[in-house]
Amino acid sequence: MEWKSDYSVGVARLDAQHRRLFDYFNELEGAMRKGRGREVIGEVLSKLASYTREHFGEEEEQELMRRAAFPELERHRRVHEAFVARVQELVRRQAEGDTSVSVEAAHALSDWLSKHILGMDREYAPYMAKAKVA
Ligand SMILES: [Fe+2]
Repeated sequence: MEWKSDYSVGVARLDAQHRRLFDYFNELEGAMRKGRGREVIGEVLSKLASYTREHFGEEEEQELMRRAAFPELERHRRVHEAFVARVQELVRRQAEGDTSVSVEAAHALSDWLSKHILGMDREYAPYMAKAKVA
């Protein structure tokens, strides 16, 4: 999956963060295709865990949504929390030696990209634009 300008939320630094998630997914997916998912999953999950802390933690997206007076902020925040919990669970299972984690992580990521970044995140774009959040 490649990030395209159609996916933009209109805020350059959020787009840059979203692109990183596409990179993580492609890295994991590419490795899995070569039968090397287990070699990269640990690193992909640790990047994903720090990403979720940084991106949702909430200096960024939520703060900008708040400034843009986005009415669905609370609902959006809960969806982020659920994703953070899902990533944490995968990290924990990976650490315990669960070998099914790479497949699940790839699903979780592709779901997040298509439903969240290409779906929910774009709901706030007009509010950001109106409030001139950039
Ligand atoms: Fe979001």
